[in-house]
Amino acid sequence: MSRSLDSITDAAYERRRGEISALSAGLPPEASVPVVEYTDWEHDVWRTVRAELAGRHRTCAAAEYLDSVEQLAVPVDHVPQLRDVSSRLASISGFRFRAAPALVPFPEFCGGLAKSVFHSTQYLRHPRSPFYTEEPDLLHDVVGHGGVLTSKRFARLYRLAGEAAVRVRRAESVQFISKVFWFTLECGVVRERGMHKAYGATLVSSCGELDQFRAAEFRPLDIKGLVDIGYDISTYQPILFEVSSMDQLEDTAGTFWNECDDDSIAALLRSGPSRSG
Ligand SMILES: [Fe+2]
Repeated sequence: MSRSLDSITDAAYERRRGEISALSAGLPPEASVPVVEYTDWEHDVWRTVRAELAGRHRTCAAAEYLDSVEQLAVPVDHVPQLRDVSSRLASISGFRFRAAPALVPFPEFCGGLAKSVFHSTQYLRHPRSPFYTEEPDLLHDVVGHGGVLTSKRFARLYRLAGEAAVRVRRAESVQFISKVFWFTLECGVVRERGMHKAYGATLVSSCGELDQFRAAEFRPLDIKGLVDIGYDISTYQPILFEVSSMDQLEDTAGTFWNECDDDSIAALLRSGPSRSG
């Protein structure tokens, strides 16, 4: 890492992040994405992470993700403008980005997904820890989520998750829909020719996650199997759920989001995990 990245203090980082967040705070839903004049160190962070991710993607990312992210054509040598990435994404799958000042609460986030809108941050992670971040940043949102959203299949899955969260009323239902989202669209893994390959945005946007994820315990994706699983978004995941194909992902998570309501989720939560009955 360059000396200039090491020299960014916490206070300078927080100030800069605050400046960028302020650009989108309070904007109406239909406002266009603000332009950010990125600094040299932000371009450095982007280049550093993109270069490190590229090699890992070749060996660790799912084929459908690789096809999709290639279509998005996100630059590797400079931070792109979110509005430009959004235009390209919209022209391919109909999804677009809306700028958000910070992590958006799940119900609001899902309200966007239901309308093919993905709330994205515009700031970058702290330059001292470019390879892992607990919180979403532009790299996570664009390379992770945007990277898969040119796929019509994934655009549909994101919309279905959003529609499900909008449809239900109970907090426990929203929480469970969020959990299914976490273990699929954030941390999902598919088995391709016997190898575990990542498609979830949290995994494919983090060098640290890609270096670690194959050490996890893998379980076949099963909605009932998620009932008693806890998760902590601030650390590497010890348990991941795999599918044997993207068709299986659609059959399992897509069908769940498409059909679930408060009653079916309550029954699921009462019935407990599948392995105990
Ligand atoms: Fe995310």
